[in-house]
Amino acid sequence: MSAPLVVLVGPMGVGKTTVGALLAERLGVGYRDTDADIVAAQGRTVADIFVEEGEPAFRALEKEAVAQALVQHDGVLALGGGAILDADTRELLSGRRVVYLSMDVEEAVKRTGLNAARPLLAVNPRKQWRELMEARRHLYEEVATAVVPTDGRTPEEVTQAALDALELKEA
Ligand code: S3P
Repeated sequence: MSAPLVVLVGPMGVGKTTVGALLAERLGVGYRDTDADIVAAQGRTVADIFVEEGEPAFRALEKEAVAQALVQHDGVLALGGGAILDADTRELLSGRRVVYLSMDVEEAVKRTGLNAARPLLAVNPRKQWRELMEARRHLYEEVATAVVPTDGRTPEEVTQAALDALELKEA
């Protein structure tokens, strides 16, 4: 199996960062996040990149960041929620251990509805969420080797469910 050990995908606010860090700790490996890589390389926030350069420019940076992290990182890697929109990225994920963290719309609004840092949900979170998921659900499912629902679960419970689904040995 090639690096990384586990890739996490799923919509914004589902808890990829929190669960990813917990999962990495349980597995005794490092954690990396492609949004954080982009922010570090660009020296500005994701929201600022969207506003200043637009979504296509952000997606180009994201595609590059994902491709790099997939060859450089051997631990747990979390991708930004829209990374799977790119067909080449989906191709790069094939044959890897990919966990799709899922949630329903009510959970999503609870977790992300008031978070102005997420440019794609800024105006009408519930409607925008539904539209995003209609466009993306099948792509998350296409790349996933395991689906872990997060609704009503704590990050620790989600982490345990991911470990169970993956049948990975803990450190
Ligand atoms: C996005 C998700 C965000 C970030 C950007 C776009 C998306 O990442 O990459 O705001 O299109 O779903 P998180 O999923 O880490 O919040």
